[in-house]
Amino acid sequence: MIKLLAAIFGLVMFVTGLFAQRGPRTDQCLTCHEAISDRNAALYRSDVHYQRGVTCAGCHGGNASQEEMEHAMDPRAGYIGVPKGDAVTAACAKCHSNSEEMAKYRSSIPVQQAEEIASSIHGKSALSGRERLVQCTTCHGAHGILSAKNPASPVHPLKVTALCSKCHSGASYMRNYNPSLPVDQMEKYRTSEHGMRNAKGDAKVAECVSCHGSHEIRAAKDVKSLVYPTNIAQTCAKCHSNKDYMKGYRIPTDQFDKYASSVHGKSLLVKGDLAAPACNSCHGNHGAMPPGVSSISKVCGTCHVMNADLFAASPHKKAFDAKKLPECETCHGSHEIIAATDRLLGVSEGAVCRTCHTTEVSPKGYEVARTMRALIDSLDLGERQTAELVAEAEQKGMEISEAKFRFRDVRQARLQAKTLVHSFDEAKFAETVKRGMSVTEEVQREAQNAIEEYYFRRWGLGISTLIITVLAIALYFAIRRIEKHQSTG
Ligand code: HEC
Ligand code: HEC
Ligand code: HEC
Ligand code: HEC
Ligand code: HEC
Ligand code: HEC
Ligand code: HEC
Ligand code: HEC
Ligand code: HEC
Ligand code: HEC
Ligand code: HEC
Repeated sequence: MIKLLAAIFGLVMFVTGLFAQRGPRTDQCLTCHEAISDRNAALYRSDVHYQRGVTCAGCHGGNASQEEMEHAMDPRAGYIGVPKGDAVTAACAKCHSNSEEMAKYRSSIPVQQAEEIASSIHGKSALSGRERLVQCTTCHGAHGILSAKNPASPVHPLKVTALCSKCHSGASYMRNYNPSLPVDQMEKYRTSEHGMRNAKGDAKVAECVSCHGSHEIRAAKDVKSLVYPTNIAQTCAKCHSNKDYMKGYRIPTDQFDKYASSVHGKSLLVKGDLAAPACNSCHGNHGAMPPGVSSISKVCGTCHVMNADLFAASPHKKAFDAKKLPECETCHGSHEIIAATDRLLGVSEGAVCRTCHTTEVSPKGYEVARTMRALIDSLDLGERQTAELVAEAEQKGMEISEAKFRFRDVRQARLQAKTLVHSFDEAKFAETVKRGMSVTEEVQREAQNAIEEYYFRRWGLGISTLIITVLAIALYFAIRRIEKHQSTG
């Protein structure tokens, strides 16, 4: 019996011991402040810090085991009163930037938040020239702080857009800091697939923080920003290339892989050419939607202006619209766009035209495609032959820089012809190709002349050397004869 009582006693002690360790029973600050109906104390009951055993003194300092107000809230016991300005973040950083301090509460969460805030755009911008624009409490609150995973937390994915736009949708607020910064992010976001799903309670779609980060937010022009052109593809790919994460959605997860191997992706990600499009160039920054059938050529056309203009005036414009076919994508694809070569043109294997035009179906298009290809092939051949002749002439040391300069017109014509494909107009195309051909003929003629002149000069040199040699020998004998004549005479 005594043993049983002792066991029960032991168990009770163990359990209360556990609670003593977890629940801050000795928090006299809380006890007294609840007694005086302090709202902060009431809020604190739901706070993650309360649950971890952090007392009011954790942030305010003081001695939480003293029942008397004067002793508890004594500056000599470290009481700091109500922190203001940057002192707020400093109070949080006391623990959150110190893994040893956090370990006292058996926590091993990251401890870089304050450091990241300090180097972020929000930390670098100062409020009225003194304190930081944001403190930890701006986003998390002060009493009643919840885990970021708690749906009631202001930083939860379903809530955070409202938090960010409290400042970012305020035109008059924003004017005080950065008058040129747009304030339409939330408005646009609401119209995107991400925004519409977020509003309906889908916490997995992108919100402000998934693209910009939370503590480390940087200006979009900052090369370290998650949305900087060379980083954005990775930022989108975090979700869009993750098969497990995207399970349950009916869209492919190959956009990044395809994009990275496309002419655009290689240009931006490998060569660092900022003129090439990133994911957001085509999808928009905040209105991320797949560009609709009618808007694709507009997206592509913002950079490829000539191609889009020619297409819009071509017979395909009406025909594609009627069939609801996307404009550029039908022939080039969207994410996997490869360098355009002549192989795409015509009716042979690998050409795009033959997918719709055959001798039976749309034969006119078939004929035009075949002719265009034949024309561009002949220009190509002409260009190659000319290049060989020019090289030969140069190798022989002939001066043909003028012809070489003109040769550039051929290349120009070929590039123009590739663009003119998009008029799908045989006459226009043929005209440009023929202009190129006539230049190749001229340059070929000049190179040929230079080569002939080279041979002519070689022959000339040979003959004149012969004549000079013969003359020299003749002169020699003539002198000998004169000398002989003199000695005998
Ligand atoms: C016995 C009651 C009592 C205890 C214990 C007590 N407080 Fe207070 N506290 C008060 C009262 C009453 C006020 C409001 C009067 C005042 O502002 O001086 C107050 C005010 C405060 C304020 C606001 C001060 C300001 O300048 O507005 C803070 C912060 C505070 N207490 C924190 C603490 C902390 C931290 C502890 C424990 C270390 C603690 N209190 C312990 C009664 C108490
Ligand atoms: C996680 C840190 C943290 C803890 C823990 C904390 N506070 Fe605070 N408290 C703050 C900060 C920061 C402020 C400054 C005001 C603000 O930023 O909202 C503040 C302000 C206050 C104020 C002044 C409010 C006002 O309206 O001027 C009182 C009173 C107060 N706290 C009481 C308490 C009491 C009581 C507890 C414990 C039940 C407590 N605090 C626990 C961070 C904390
Ligand atoms: C006395 C140390 C201490 C101070 C001071 C402190 N915290 Fe904490 N905080 C903790 C501990 C311990 C946890 C629990 C971490 C865990 O779950 O592993 C925590 C958790 C959090 C979390 C929840 C993290 C999550 O799981 O999503 C947030 C947010 C947070 N603190 C913000 C603040 C803010 C803001 C301040 C200042 C106003 C502050 N903390 C001050 C110790 C502290
Ligand atoms: C601009 C708003 C903002 C500010 C300011 C901010 N946080 Fe956060 N914090 C967030 C968001 C959003 C999350 C959740 C998303 C995430 O985990 O990145 C978060 C998550 C956290 C977490 C959970 C663990 C983690 O790091 O993911 C802790 C702890 C935390 N914040 C502490 C702080 C502290 C300490 C400060 C001040 C130095 C601070 N936060 C300032 C927005 C903010
Ligand atoms: C307290 C108001 C406030 C809150 C809350 C806030 N911001 Fe800001 N943010 C600003 C101000 C002001 C600037 C402009 C600073 C400057 O340019 O000096 C800014 C700048 C930015 C920038 C850089 C813009 C650029 O390219 O120059 C981004 C991105 C940003 N905030 C995103 C966010 C996100 C995401 C959130 C929510 C997690 C958020 N902000 C919460 C006030 C706020
Ligand atoms: C799907 C990713 C994504 C989401 C979600 C997102 N942004 Fe952006 N944000 C971007 C990109 C990309 C840029 C522009 C980068 C550039 O200019 O090159 C940008 C730019 C900004 C800027 C700079 C000014 C501007 O408009 O160009 C601010 C401020 C900003 N975002 C705030 C927000 C806020 C607030 C939210 C949430 C309502 C949000 N963003 C949601 C990707 C996103
Ligand atoms: C936090 C994860 C996440 C990030 C980051 C993210 N997305 Fe999304 N996105 C989703 C989810 C989930 C969907 C919903 C899938 C659906 O529509 O079926 C979605 C939908 C889309 C859609 C609509 C697809 C459709 O046809 O329904 C587009 C387009 C899109 N995202 C583009 C982007 C771009 C571009 C970026 C980067 C600037 C980006 N996303 C960043 C998770 C993300
Ligand atoms: C050159 C323009 C362009 C670029 C760059 C681009 N996209 Fe797209 N994206 C499109 C077009 C066009 C569609 C529509 C495809 C369709 O309707 O069949 C699309 C469709 C999508 C979809 C809807 C699902 C699907 O695959 O059809 C998602 C998600 C998406 N893109 C994400 C991305 C991501 C992530 C990146 C960057 C890694 C990116 N896109 C880069 C043009 C682009
Ligand atoms: C009917 C098929 C078709 C459509 C539709 C199409 N293209 Fe092309 N495109 C081609 C072919 C074929 C070539 C290759 C020509 C060559 O190299 O001989 C090409 C070449 C190109 C080139 C490289 C040549 C140059 O102009 O620099 C670009 C860029 C291009 N297309 C962009 C676009 C854009 C933008 C659109 C939409 C407005 C579009 N294309 C629509 C078939 C098409
Ligand atoms: C932000 C500007 C931009 C947008 C938007 C854009 N492109 Fe491009 N595109 C480029 C640049 C720059 C290159 C040249 C890349 C290189 O060769 O280094 C290129 C290359 C190409 C090529 C290969 C050209 C060649 O000479 O072989 C094709 C085809 C092409 N783009 C088609 C498209 C289509 C189709 C779209 C729309 C779905 C599109 N582009 C959207 C900038 C853009
Ligand atoms: C996606 C299908 C498709 C592809 C690919 C396509 N076309 Fe067409 N094309 C059409 C349709 C539909 C018409 C409308 C007239 C018709 O039905 O014959 C048309 C019309 C034409 C016409 C005008 C014919 C007339 O009757 O006046 C020409 C020329 C033409 N295409 C050339 C081309 C060339 C060259 C290519 C390859 C670079 C090509 N097309 C690729 C579908 C296509």
